[in-house]
Amino acid sequence: MTVHTLPPVLDVARIREDFPILGQRVHGHPLVYLDNANTTQKPRAVLDALARYYAEDNANVHRSTHLLSERATRAYEGARARVQRLLNARDSREIVFTRGCTEAINLVASSWGRTYLRPGDEVVVTWMEHHSNIVPWQMACAQAGATLRAVPITDAGEIELDAFAAALSGRTRFVSVIHVSNALGTVNPVREMVAIAKDRGLPVLVDGAQAVPHLPVDVQALGCDFYTLSAHKMYGPTGIGALYGRAALLDAMPPYQGGGDMIASVTFEKTTYNTLPYKFEAGTPNIAGVVGFGAAVDYLRQFDMAAVTRHEADLVEHATARLDAVPGVRLIGRARHRAGVVSFVMDGVHPHDIGTILDREGIAIRTGQHCAQPVMDRYGVPATARASFAVYNTLDEVDAFVDALRTVRELFG
Ligand SMILES: Cc1ncc(COP(=O)(O)O)c(C=O)c1O
Repeated sequence: MTVHTLPPVLDVARIREDFPILGQRVHGHPLVYLDNANTTQKPRAVLDALARYYAEDNANVHRSTHLLSERATRAYEGARARVQRLLNARDSREIVFTRGCTEAINLVASSWGRTYLRPGDEVVVTWMEHHSNIVPWQMACAQAGATLRAVPITDAGEIELDAFAAALSGRTRFVSVIHVSNALGTVNPVREMVAIAKDRGLPVLVDGAQAVPHLPVDVQALGCDFYTLSAHKMYGPTGIGALYGRAALLDAMPPYQGGGDMIASVTFEKTTYNTLPYKFEAGTPNIAGVVGFGAAVDYLRQFDMAAVTRHEADLVEHATARLDAVPGVRLIGRARHRAGVVSFVMDGVHPHDIGTILDREGIAIRTGQHCAQPVMDRYGVPATARASFAVYNTLDEVDAFVDALRTVRELFG
């Protein structure tokens, strides 16, 4: 007898109850929040963890002998262990807390770049990077006399592995690539890209800001040297994120910032640095943010990630089919493998007007360049409108959004 097991599904109605903000009305309409690639909403478990930390445990970490400091330190280091497990990193010393994905990339570009980049070297990124994976490398290259090179993308918004391999030359010293594009939704074949780079002995950073909320991520299976993520894109607080770095590389890199906690000893003649990961965490960290980040990791890990991926793929597929049926709408990015995002333009209507009209219907989307101006230039558009999805979004919300677009179409004739 064949046993059919049903694919895992999300109980979205129940999940929605976890998010108090979703119950409100905006301009007289139920809120339809489709701006999740910008930032996700926060479940009660995260809100409670933040409030409880300040109400019960608030103290500085790693420094005092008193009980509150011990509890705060335990909560802080407990969150580090949660992030380690989420990413399947070998060791919690490989997880450095940062202000977000942006700071994590700046840390590597500044510390690694300052140490290893030389005149004539090249750093390779892709054409679909977020500005936070372009500008820090431009700055590092400018300081070293190195050059930033971008791998082109196809009309569908994909990286071809041959083109990627061809962009790596004898001058390449570092590869830094986005896992999932916030502007196009493309899921890049990062495992294959890392393997190609590793074949040539190159270190690789993967920007996972838009991947972690949608896909299972295993840094050991990916084989990358650095992986960056942002709590606020995965149901956690703003202003906190993390850098995963292979211990051997982090050990060999100089500190990013100097100050308290990152030192072993200080005299006016000489400072010695703390061990990993504290060497990269100067000053009082965002302790409450880290505690909230840990709660967000727990929240995300309660789900079967295969079910999350499938649910969000259904939303993308449904949105794509419905948008294709709206006259004058053109999707920007049609990669075979997309996660969480549909980006589009409408003939004769500026994306900002689309966003404003949709807002009057209670529908929150993002319009603009999405911090990815080279992507806009690649497609010859000044901006796009973007709907982006999370675990709590429904097919009905996608319908409400596309129906409202039809109103926009009618208004603009
Ligand atoms: C792909 C990608 N990388 C990096 C970032 C920057 O993250 P943060 O602003 O949280 O530092 C974002 C934010 O939109 C992003 O989408």
